[in-house]
Amino acid sequence: MTANPARPTRKTTDMNSDWWTDAVVYQIYPRSFADSDGDGIGDLRGVTARVPYLASLGVDAVWISPFYPSALADGGYDVDDYRAIDPRLGTLEDFDDMVEALHGAGIRVIIDIVPNHTSNRHRWFSEALAAPKDSAARDRYIFRDGTGPAGSQPPSDWQSIFSGPAWTRVADGQWYLHLFAPEQPDLNWRHPEVRQDFLTTLRFWADRGVDGFRVDVAHGLAKDLTEPLAPTAHLPGPAEANGTHPLWDRDEVHDIYAEWRTVFNEYDPPRMAVAEACVHPTRRHRYAHPDGLGQAFNFDLLEAAWDADQFRSCIDRHLCEVGSPATTATWVLSNHDVVRHATRYGLPGAEKQPRDLANAWLLSNGDQPPLDRALGLRRAGAATLLTLALPGSVYLYQGEELGLHEVGDLPAEVLQDPEFRRSHGARKGRDGCRVPIPWTAEEPSFGFSDGTGTPHLPQPGWFANHSVSAQEVDPDSTLELYRRAIALRAKLQSPGFGWHHESNPRVLHFTRPGGWQCVTNFSPDPVALPPGTVVLSSAPVVYRQLPPDATAWILISEGSTHE
Ligand code: NOJ
Repeated sequence: MTANPARPTRKTTDMNSDWWTDAVVYQIYPRSFADSDGDGIGDLRGVTARVPYLASLGVDAVWISPFYPSALADGGYDVDDYRAIDPRLGTLEDFDDMVEALHGAGIRVIIDIVPNHTSNRHRWFSEALAAPKDSAARDRYIFRDGTGPAGSQPPSDWQSIFSGPAWTRVADGQWYLHLFAPEQPDLNWRHPEVRQDFLTTLRFWADRGVDGFRVDVAHGLAKDLTEPLAPTAHLPGPAEANGTHPLWDRDEVHDIYAEWRTVFNEYDPPRMAVAEACVHPTRRHRYAHPDGLGQAFNFDLLEAAWDADQFRSCIDRHLCEVGSPATTATWVLSNHDVVRHATRYGLPGAEKQPRDLANAWLLSNGDQPPLDRALGLRRAGAATLLTLALPGSVYLYQGEELGLHEVGDLPAEVLQDPEFRRSHGARKGRDGCRVPIPWTAEEPSFGFSDGTGTPHLPQPGWFANHSVSAQEVDPDSTLELYRRAIALRAKLQSPGFGWHHESNPRVLHFTRPGGWQCVTNFSPDPVALPPGTVVLSSAPVVYRQLPPDATAWILISEGSTHE
């Protein structure tokens, strides 16, 4: 790869080029954020219209999930064309207007890039299907002959992430690999044209002013498909994290990101990137290396129960892994792929196995086990304040600032997620966290769609109480808590972190420079707060007692911190 000589190499005049090291980033799932033209699908003009809201929330950046042309076989993560906008979401001009409006409000823009697979409607895949076996067009993907009589069996027994075989047969009898849905054929990253074309795509968006990229399935691009293909039973398990798996987290993947880094550094300031790398925590730092993508999501808290020990060990492990100062640390409680954290924490048994519980709850259409909505919301607020007090960047998912719960009772006929169909209903999928968000308390659509548009996923009646307009007039609302926390964090955040020893193991207490302390009570009883001014709390503090399932931020005078 040669760098474009017309662009400066890494040398920046932007004093704030490391903004992403301690940013609050708000994830927009655009089809469910705001619908400006009343067709029931959120769009880019909808985002532009809501820039004042994003500014009032105080976020540093937005990450926008895919807005590319797509048949929506996987919520837009099946991309037909990487350098275009889905006409239902707008035009390139709308995109430029959106970026200008966000930048005008001081908000950076991160977009999603999906390099592991295209959609089956991508031009390359049409060419591959039209071309013969062993052609260059097929070689952009991963085609193999089958096994068994007349090659009628897949090349291996591998299963896709969404259930079902990872291979699909085409008309001439060959099979192609898709680690996700059949509509998402995996690319062959050994093909020079694939590598080159993605560099063109990165420059296309960086030239349009995009500040960074969220890299989908970053751990999947490099594959070793040397035959014979190992059967699933012989593949290394997740604990054997040594780069030997043929499909995931291979060391060669970092050669690709080193090329990408050269492109990012052509810009002033350099573009940032964050990896979605579902890898063993001991290997995550490779994706966050400054010569590669620079930052990687840490999903440990998504998996953790509502439990002080689990939170403590997630924090310790991650801070140890990123080193000091914790410039590449990231914290995530919710996103478009998981049951919302307010719901996870409100299910009985949330102190042990939140993920399994939440899946069972979804399969019962949100009926069993009974969800304690108030408890979940209380804990969600406490967890959010805790993560916002940590060093590094925090990624928020749209609607969590409204205290939204998962919509558990979506009927089967409206479900869009391939997980549901592919697993034959054994998993309900991710639609429940992707329901269009409520802006006003009035139906239809709670202000999501302009006019009388019908949202592409039905909203429940209880959304009214969670709407932006209802919460803006309530000083004790979740929205106001987020606004206050984000504003205060911006003032208090600086490098440094230390645990404060607590005799109660169900209390987490840490200190930050400048006298900032954060205390979270995971126990069933109130606990006494340390001296200092309570500047924010997720639940009322009375007589300096922090109630159960709550977090308080305390400010003590300089010099008396416990660093
Ligand atoms: C991760 C994305 O977050 C998820 O929504 C998508 O289904 C898969 N990657 C496949 O692209």
